[in-house]
Amino acid sequence: MHQVVAQFRAMACCEIEMLFSLSSLSEPNPRARLLEIWSYTFPMTTLTNLEQVRRVVTAIPGPKSNALIQRRAEAVSGGLGLTFPVAIERASDAILLDVDGNQIIDLGSGIGVTNVGNSASRVVANVIEQVQTFTHTCFTVNPYLNYIEVCEALNRLTPGTHKKKSMLVNSGAEAVENAVKIARHYTKRQAIVVFEHAYHGRTNLTMALNAKNMPYKEGFGPFAPEIYRVPMPYAFRWIGPKETITEDAMEMITHKIEKEIGAHNVAAILIEPIQGEGGFIVPPKGFLPALAQYSRDHGIIFMADEVQSGFARTGHMFAVEEEGVVPDILITAKGIGGGLPLAGVTGRAEIMDSVHISGLGGTFGGNPIACAAALGAIATIEEDGLIERARHIGQLLGDGLRALAAKYPVIGEVRGRGAMQAIELIVPGSIEPNSAAMAQVLKYCTSQGVFILSAGTYNNVIRFLPPLVITDELLVDALKVLDEAFATL
Ligand SMILES: Cc1ncc(COP(=O)(O)O)c(C=O)c1O
Repeated sequence: MHQVVAQFRAMACCEIEMLFSLSSLSEPNPRARLLEIWSYTFPMTTLTNLEQVRRVVTAIPGPKSNALIQRRAEAVSGGLGLTFPVAIERASDAILLDVDGNQIIDLGSGIGVTNVGNSASRVVANVIEQVQTFTHTCFTVNPYLNYIEVCEALNRLTPGTHKKKSMLVNSGAEAVENAVKIARHYTKRQAIVVFEHAYHGRTNLTMALNAKNMPYKEGFGPFAPEIYRVPMPYAFRWIGPKETITEDAMEMITHKIEKEIGAHNVAAILIEPIQGEGGFIVPPKGFLPALAQYSRDHGIIFMADEVQSGFARTGHMFAVEEEGVVPDILITAKGIGGGLPLAGVTGRAEIMDSVHISGLGGTFGGNPIACAAALGAIATIEEDGLIERARHIGQLLGDGLRALAAKYPVIGEVRGRGAMQAIELIVPGSIEPNSAAMAQVLKYCTSQGVFILSAGTYNNVIRFLPPLVITDELLVDALKVLDEAFATL
């Protein structure tokens, strides 16, 4: 025991010495830098560094994964899905190490969360520092600095130069719920307009906002009232002429709002700027600006759910920036926390301040460890140029996918923006969804050490959400495996 204490004392002295020398070198954040150096130096934290190569050493899933999945079946609710029956032991950047020793290329980022890479160094350093400082107070009981810093960052990074304010919660669904509460409270209206193919979470209100019944809603009703669904201009499956899709969609939407709901009853229009679970549906040019303008003209809060599309994913900090759209409320989660659970609602100050004191809150929302992680993730995006990196990935991945589409007629469309790309699979010669082909391709990729997620209302979309730090070599390797997978069909 004494030996351990002595060792820690020696480490502490060494830390102080290093802090002094780093400050004299005018290191802007000596403590974070020190923790970073420490993470390279001490074995406990060097665990996270994995060589960025794919390495298949057993069948995938291997024997240890299979055993763990069996154990999971005994202990864990059967209501939880299982996309890959492969258990993970470690991860860094864009490589996941499974319990059997396979190094797998991560093209999913834990569903668009680890945008800055798995166990990103600034996130790890900040979390270690915070967990040693304090772990929880409840922000509404005793405030602390890093919650405020995350809100300041959100206010700065989200579109628009107007005065903004933010609040933090634990998950995307909770953020969407709070955004709806705030919009209703501010407008004193009740109706919420949402879209076909939308996904906003798994709580009662967000289930009602979701478009897809199975698996999200089946058997879980009754759902929250005053939710109205309008058409989404999904170009690949649009029945009308593609040339007038924006105008036609706007006409259908405004007709529904004005004739069925009454524009004066609508509190908010809620939309994912690029739909995630719905299958990476990118609205046609001009649609989001038209919708935002219509909202402004009718006193409706325009809310962008950037849970999946945000934090540099699309080659902008937020996807709405592509067309200069400024939402009244912008909802964030996933990528904000660099892998820790955190979500935010950011909006015009007068909207965010309209709620009475204690109308908003929660025990864990904006937990200090998650906030420390978020500050690490945001610094990584800004200092390491990950927005530009997402654009580069979009080019490389998009070109690769378009080459595959030219070779395999089962690929009906390649779409997306930046590092949020997808392919929609069809029965060749039609637009009939081909979920069987999708399942076969993904199974092959998994067996070869490449994890890719599915999506889509028709379960026929393969979506790509790689960590933004993925190397070109890994992307090219993954595309090669994908090519082999299509050749097996
Ligand atoms: C657009 C969008 N909104 C909300 C959510 C819900 O987020 P969470 O799973 O953190 O509750 C998701 C999750 O996939 C999402 O993609």
